Amino acid sequence: MSLVNMKEMLQKAEEGNYAVGSFSVLNMEMIIGTVRAAEELKAPIILQIAEGRLKYAPLALMGPMMLSAARAASVPVAVHLDHGLTLPTIRYALDIGFTSVMYDGSKVSLQENIETTKQVIQLAHKVGATAEAEIGKVGGSEDGTEDLELMATSVEDAQRFYEETKVDALAVAIGNAHGVYKSAPQLQFDRLKQLNQIVDSALVLHGGSGITIEDFRKCIDLGIRKINVMTAALNRVTDETKKLAQNCPGFNYFDYTQCAVEAVYQNTREHILAFRSENKA
Ligand code: 13P
Repeated sequence: MSLVNMKEMLQKAEEGNYAVGSFSVLNMEMIIGTVRAAEELKAPIILQIAEGRLKYAPLALMGPMMLSAARAASVPVAVHLDHGLTLPTIRYALDIGFTSVMYDGSKVSLQENIETTKQVIQLAHKVGATAEAEIGKVGGSEDGTEDLELMATSVEDAQRFYEETKVDALAVAIGNAHGVYKSAPQLQFDRLKQLNQIVDSALVLHGGSGITIEDFRKCIDLGIRKINVMTAALNRVTDETKKLAQNCPGFNYFDYTQCAVEAVYQNTREHILAFRSENKA
């Protein structure tokens, strides 16, 4: 049994100055590849799925599979709802046993974000789960705009948000973006440093795909404790299965699923090592 609470996992990361990888999974192969890498490297991990992806991978199917994989794993695994948008979905995730939920209030006013986040914290804490929120807007495919400077989390907003909610984990916008970066990301490390000084929540970096190891490490040294990764895994699966089709035209279904598992495994491995979370289980 190693399904764990996310808050405690992130507290250990704070003590050890590393970040836990929060890996998006959309099917069984992604779960298998992710957990295999974590077990081999003895790393704690988070398995996550975002509300926006549930039309492709329903929570009623994915949720139990993620939870079973976590319980069977030899390393600590938290199971997290990423970018929760509605209270019914957040409640459902908690009802089936997710150990963490995120409410994404980045598109509503700060006041509304604070109010709904407080409700989500209450729901989560009632069942011993962790709550994550977001302020500022992480750019990229989440809302289609690329004006990252304007979307950075304001220090004043973060201070007010933290004082009023005391949320467990807080996603910050420091020039990071979901999806593929059109040019090398210019992360605002000074802003991150200021946010870390005034917010006592575990800080979360979304949009992990495409950030360099050096920048990941700088973020970790400035207080980032959870890093979300999805696009890199999806692109790795796409690239490797294309190669399989080109190089082995006689490939069968099982060659294809094993190729997908291996691609996710390699991607997860590389990120765990970048986040310095190996041997921390
Ligand atoms: P990427 O798809 O850019 O890795 O971002 C993942 C993410 O932040 C999910 O919340």
